[in-house]
Amino acid sequence: MSQARIAVLASGRGSNLRALIGAIEAGRLPAQVVGVFSDKPDAAVLQQVPPALRWSAKPANFDSREAYEQALGDAIEAARPDWIVCAGYMRILGDALVQRFAGRMLNIHPSLLPRHRGLRTHAAALAAGDAEHGCSVHFVIPELDAGTVIAQARLAVAPDDTPESLAARVLAMEHRLLPAVLQLAVSGRLAERDGTACVDGQPMFTPLTLDSHDRLMP
Ligand code: GAR
Repeated sequence: MSQARIAVLASGRGSNLRALIGAIEAGRLPAQVVGVFSDKPDAAVLQQVPPALRWSAKPANFDSREAYEQALGDAIEAARPDWIVCAGYMRILGDALVQRFAGRMLNIHPSLLPRHRGLRTHAAALAAGDAEHGCSVHFVIPELDAGTVIAQARLAVAPDDTPESLAARVLAMEHRLLPAVLQLAVSGRLAERDGTACVDGQPMFTPLTLDSHDRLMP
């Protein structure tokens, strides 16, 4: 299989990027990271790739959000990615940027979407008394944490869970789910058609789930 080109957008510590790089190094993901793009020039995530692959700019240094996203989009495009992955990119993406990469932009989110969009998802799951919690990978659309969900990983909420304990367990699942979805994506089997995720050309009506061997199952 040829090496697919992956661009990563991130704002923070970059543990999901680390998981992708780990899967590539272990030979489980036939891909290469061709750029890491951040709205936070001092984000730890940037340190995980060589300087030539780093791009960052503070949105506040641009005249408008549109100007920032034009520059970001141009930088992404210059890296010629097959897939663009938001892995802890903590800004809402504007319409123009999302349309530019429509159908090949993915996001990982720490909840079982459509439950608990936005921030503080672990506290929200506890406050709602959810019996299950987890993470989702979905196609990006201009609306926050929306877009067709491709796959989810679930865990049972324990009576003594705190937002911190849930966050740690969900993050460990994210590190398994994201490489598994990328594997599907780079194999050419995943596509979005008319707002629905398709695998091998067949529309999926419920998200795939991750089994204990890190395989995605219907
Ligand atoms: C992850 O938990 C990811 O799901 C979340 O940010 C964290 C980034 O961690 N993303 C969102 O909340 C997006 N709505 P990382 O920098 O260690 O990968």
